[in-house]
Amino acid sequence: MADLTVHVDGLTLPNPFVIGSGPPGTNANVIGKAFDEGWGGVVAKTVSLDASKVINVAPRYARLRTTESREIYGWQNIELISDRDFDLWLDEFRMLKDKYPDRILIASIMEEYNKDAWVEIVERTQETGVDAFELNFSCPHGLPERKMGAAMGQDPDILAEVCTWVNDAAKIPVWAKMTPNVTHIEDPARAALTAGCQGVAAINTILSTMGVDLETLRPEPTVEGYTVPGGYSCTAVRPIALRMVMELATMMYGGNSGQPIQPDGSIAVKGEFPDRSISAIGGVETGDDAAQFILLGGSTVQVCTGVMKHGYAMVKGMCDQLSAFMDKHGFKTVEEFRGHSLHYFTTHAELVRLQREAKEAKKAERKAKMVVEDAQWTGDKFVDQSDALSRD
Ligand SMILES: Cc1cc2nc3c(=O)[nH]c(=O)nc-3n(C[C@H](O)[C@H](O)[C@H](O)COP(=O)(O)O)c2cc1C
Repeated sequence: MADLTVHVDGLTLPNPFVIGSGPPGTNANVIGKAFDEGWGGVVAKTVSLDASKVINVAPRYARLRTTESREIYGWQNIELISDRDFDLWLDEFRMLKDKYPDRILIASIMEEYNKDAWVEIVERTQETGVDAFELNFSCPHGLPERKMGAAMGQDPDILAEVCTWVNDAAKIPVWAKMTPNVTHIEDPARAALTAGCQGVAAINTILSTMGVDLETLRPEPTVEGYTVPGGYSCTAVRPIALRMVMELATMMYGGNSGQPIQPDGSIAVKGEFPDRSISAIGGVETGDDAAQFILLGGSTVQVCTGVMKHGYAMVKGMCDQLSAFMDKHGFKTVEEFRGHSLHYFTTHAELVRLQREAKEAKKAERKAKMVVEDAQWTGDKFVDQSDALSRD
């Protein structure tokens, strides 16, 4: 029977499934529910020092569904970080750690570009006993107007500076949550890791416009006739998230993406941060989805929109499916297969070469079977020999 326990950055989780920051971690009540249902950890909704600056609108979600089954596969939100009072959050973090001392509670924090504010939020939050921090450098809408969220995550220099402030003040592990709204996600991640973060979390939502209403001609979701681009999540983003996690893992642990296959089978890119972690996020709804992110380097896997669709109890089915996958392949622990598939990326030129060589080998094999003189015909190989002389 597979062991789903994960040891990462000094934290121990009963399984790799973590609630991603957002509505499923919006207060102590629902976070408690997540622990009761068996989630390995919870990243709470992002908090800031002054919640009065955070003003949400409604509607703030828009969804894409398949035509026939009406299943939701794309989800856009223009929701901001938590609009709940910071002191209330501190009380709730304390209460949760009292009630669930051995469960992993991660505080997601965000502040303006101001050292005192970041140091204050780190110091006051860690006093509550939370297990780790996730730094939200990635919310793509609303907050960038205040130079927060993705506005910081898109600037490696500012990111490095803020991560240094945080890491100097933090006594617990720090993960930097990356925005996918960049060309090379490795650049801000490298800045965060160089500045001392234990890990990176990726991805946050992808900047999107859900659509335009063809009756009113107004883009969705419409708030008093107007809108802003929002963040796209759910199953539709999974392939993009897998690619970005693979790019991060290749940079951190080594891999072969974008490199020729080495004749001795070794990996071409040596990892720059082999002892740091990745918390993988984006469109995860099943144990099989999670297995893919772990194969590409994730130590933990976060789920946000999936919980909004299926509820907290989904974690049981995810654990069963991940366990079944591990049993099938003989993996005893999550660590045993983490990053396993990073070797199987290469360059397009290599794919062309491999395919040409495979075709040539097949041709040579066929040629070897062709009868060229009477004495070569044998009764045993007669069918193969006839086949080799035939035109397909
Ligand atoms: C409605 C909504 C609100 C979110 N709020 C936050 C947030 O406050 N902080 C944060 O770091 N990420 C936030 N996210 C992003 C998610 O944590 C996650 O990175 C993203 O949605 C991709 O994962 P998913 O496909 O499992 O939802 C939010 C996502 C949604 C859908």
